[in-house]
Amino acid sequence: MLTGVDTRLQIAPSILAADFARLGEEVGNIAPYVDLLHVDLMDGHFVPNLSLGIPVIQSLRPVTDLKFDCHLMMLNADYYFPALKRAGADLVTVHIEVYPNPSAAAESARAEGLEFGLVINPPTPFEALEPFIELCDMIVLMSVNPGFGGQAFIEASLAKIEAARNFVESHGLLTDIEVDGGIGAANIRRAKDAGANVFVAGSSVFGAEEPVSAVEQLRKRIRESE
Ligand code: DX5
Ligand code: ZN
Repeated sequence: MLTGVDTRLQIAPSILAADFARLGEEVGNIAPYVDLLHVDLMDGHFVPNLSLGIPVIQSLRPVTDLKFDCHLMMLNADYYFPALKRAGADLVTVHIEVYPNPSAAAESARAEGLEFGLVINPPTPFEALEPFIELCDMIVLMSVNPGFGGQAFIEASLAKIEAARNFVESHGLLTDIEVDGGIGAANIRRAKDAGANVFVAGSSVFGAEEPVSAVEQLRKRIRESE
């Protein structure tokens, strides 16, 4: 399983767990050690929380060349695609629960020059995503209910990751499979073995005393044999 995927294993720290008073410094310090930057935007409607917005993305853009993976936990996410692009977003992901038919949203993202992905919440069956996977550069499987960092990984997500990997491989696709929520050294290996190749890590990286060592530890865990 996962033949040829190893070079695509990517760590995406989520800045939600960073110290926002020192955000530029925290991102600048971790940037050389990671593959993309996960940016969580929340609207207080789709999820019961608020996080950060477009001006923060704009301020971070000069700090690093990393790809900005913008996870839009929002009801009207597509309205913001042009502004997100101008601010420096590279990839936007929207929820299948908000966009049950996401074709138009995918088209708008691409018209703006953004990569596009779909996110699925723990209670939503994987089948909801299947018809639309070919629209996506990346699919994101939530392994916590979205809205807050620092929650425990939901074990049942592993079966969904497996279903996603089987779907992608059996259709000859190269779609990235990102797992988001509760990922740390204790479970990243299981998420990788289930078939994820992009790993969001918020509190396990920015909540660590040494974020760079935390990332190195995560990489070690996904590379080591059993
Ligand atoms: C949850 C967010 C996640 C979160 C992950 O709503 O989508 O990206 O920041 O944080 P941890 O790794 O702490 O679960
Ligand atoms: Zn996220």
